[in-house]
Amino acid sequence: MNEPYSPATSRPISSTSPSTMKMFMGFLAVFIVAQTIGTVLFCLYLHMKMDKMEEVLSLNEDYIFLRKVQKCQMAEGQKSTLLDCEKILKGFQDLQCKLMKMNPKLNLWLFGIAGHEHHEHPHLMHKNEMSVAEEKRQPIAAHLAGQKSYKTVSVLEWRTTMYGPMNNNSISYQEGKLKVKEAGLYYIYSQVSFCTKAATSAPFTLYIYLYLPMEEDRLLLKGLDTHRTSTACDLQSIREGGVFKLREGDMVFVNVTDSTRVNYNHGSTYFGIFKL
Ligand SMILES: *[C@@H]1O[C@H](CO)[C@@H](O)[C@H](O)[C@H]1NC(C)=O
Ligand SMILES: *[C@@H]1O[C@H](CO)[C@@H](O)[C@H](O)[C@H]1NC(C)=O
Repeated sequence: MNEPYSPATSRPISSTSPSTMKMFMGFLAVFIVAQTIGTVLFCLYLHMKMDKMEEVLSLNEDYIFLRKVQKCQMAEGQKSTLLDCEKILKGFQDLQCKLMKMNPKLNLWLFGIAGHEHHEHPHLMHKNEMSVAEEKRQPIAAHLAGQKSYKTVSVLEWRTTMYGPMNNNSISYQEGKLKVKEAGLYYIYSQVSFCTKAATSAPFTLYIYLYLPMEEDRLLLKGLDTHRTSTACDLQSIREGGVFKLREGDMVFVNVTDSTRVNYNHGSTYFGIFKL
């Protein structure tokens, strides 16, 4: 009784189950695929989010560090925080020094965040650096006054004055000549005051020469005056100056047609040079 039934009852079940199974399997497959894609997308999203979080966290860390620095600077003298200020400030200073070595222009930036007491520190250092550089680049200049001589000389002689510079490291003086140590462009100038005599008709002339030991000296500048007077000594001056390219060790000197007529009153006769 049961036997003819059992195949009959089992057949409809087995005949409906493959189609439902197929549908079920299809759904399952779609579901699994969707799930996988979803999971992958979610993982990607999570990963990106984590990266961002990490960034935010590190920024937060920087911020906390800066806040600590600020707090320590404000609390300086009062000792009112529980923070280990010495360590924090030292850390900040180390950072400053490192940054400054990398880029001196960062000073301004550090100026902005360093609060009120320590910002003077990098600023002062910057100033010191500047003054060291300035000291290194001392101006190369000399200004000398005429040295009175009673005999006729072919090269006028000079002496240092109270306010006139004489940078002995880069310009040396020997027997009326100024010698430059460095090659370069120099402005050379001189003024000579002198007496004109009624009798002479030849012009009084002021020369600046480049001294050349092996060959004839080279004329650089020349100034003339033929002013004639009826008096025995009428004072006047010739002044000249120009820029010249000098080589290392070059010497320049001044001479005049008649050195006995030169006037050596304070400020009237001088010779100078400076590097551009
Ligand atoms: C001035 O110096 C030049 C060059 O050395 C020389 O030729 C000239 O004779 C000198 N003039 C006088 C008046 O000494
Ligand atoms: C520079 O040299 C001149 C003359 O050679 C000398 O009179 C003067 O004292 C020196 N100045 C310095 C600062 O050495």
